[in-house]
Amino acid sequence: MSEDKDFEGFQTRAIYTSKLLNRTSAISPPIWQTTTFSADTAEDFAEIAVANKPSEFYTRYGNPNHEMVEATLASLEGGQAALVTGSGMGAIFAAIAGQLKAGDHVVAQQNHYAGATSLLRDILPRWGIDVTYVDQTSNSEFADAIRPETRLIYVETPVNPLMQITDLEFIVDLAKPRGILTICDNTFSTPVNQLPLSYGIDAVVHSATKYIGGHHDVTAGAFVGSKDLVEKVWKFALVAGATLSPFDGWLLLRGLRTLGLRVDRHNRNGLALASFLETHPKVSRVHYPGLASHPQHELARSQMNGFTGMLSVELRGGYAAADRLISSLKLATRAASLGGFETLIVHPASMWSLQLSQQVRDATGITDGLVRISVGLEDEPDLIRDFQQALDKV
Ligand SMILES: Cc1ncc(COP(=O)(O)O)c(C=O)c1O
Repeated sequence: MSEDKDFEGFQTRAIYTSKLLNRTSAISPPIWQTTTFSADTAEDFAEIAVANKPSEFYTRYGNPNHEMVEATLASLEGGQAALVTGSGMGAIFAAIAGQLKAGDHVVAQQNHYAGATSLLRDILPRWGIDVTYVDQTSNSEFADAIRPETRLIYVETPVNPLMQITDLEFIVDLAKPRGILTICDNTFSTPVNQLPLSYGIDAVVHSATKYIGGHHDVTAGAFVGSKDLVEKVWKFALVAGATLSPFDGWLLLRGLRTLGLRVDRHNRNGLALASFLETHPKVSRVHYPGLASHPQHELARSQMNGFTGMLSVELRGGYAAADRLISSLKLATRAASLGGFETLIVHPASMWSLQLSQQVRDATGITDGLVRISVGLEDEPDLIRDFQQALDKV
């Protein structure tokens, strides 16, 4: 790790941490666009072939571009080590499947990003792993779900797309004395807004495709935790083939250097748009933890430094109103994904109709009038004008 303990500021670490891993005099590091690396001697080759996470052996095992991002992410999240993967789902899959065996039990939330829900609902039970789903806003439901064979509590906060909050301190107090592993999806918050490891959560996963990359041009994931956990998950990711390309690693590092600046702006735009929409007569509800009306606003304030650019909004006119709003926006674009420079908007019930049955959508509050907005980096007055003119047409 190249981190110098003298430098504590978030943005300084985002820029400085990878510097000593550059290996060249180029200020912008090269892209190690290679699948494999040479060894000088048979002994060197044999040694590196059995090393943990070597950065210069074979790119599926690691690569200098991965190493630079991993060191930076570990520093920003406050972990000992990190692993980057070819997508957020690659990281989640390796994080969960790499730890569990038949007979284990998992406690998870009723709401998660839909891909994680598919893994928990459709795949883990086929491998003899039982999952109990709880309302993440209820600490007693988490406590009641624990069994002697519970091996993992998997949380996501704020959750996609309804922005409910999980009480991280409570989860750690529940899990630690029982030796239960805890993993938190920190995609929405980013380490700018929330540091789950600082509460004692064992590991963090990211869809780095989102805020970490920040430019809608890279698909990537990350796992951050202790060195031991990261090595364990790396061994699984290695056989799962969840490898990140060197170029995508390079793009991720470029994104990370401005993470603090971007997320500050996302936070400001998110709060401004949420506040505007909350007062609009065609909107029945805004889900945004930064609003005093959010049922868990106080909890959000206690564990988050900012409230992200993510919000979801329920329209009084149901599906027709949601469709009309999305179709009438000029700045905001109808597209999946989130956390990038440009404002994106989706209708979650349509986007996840394959992964989430009507029954699951009804049970988890993903209504036909719900839209999810990823507020970008545009100027706040323009964003509000755009939503105003589009709502006038609803
Ligand atoms: C919260 C969250 N976690 C994980 C993922 C999966 O990430 P990826 O699409 O990079 O596989 C997503 C994707 O939208 C997400 O929103």
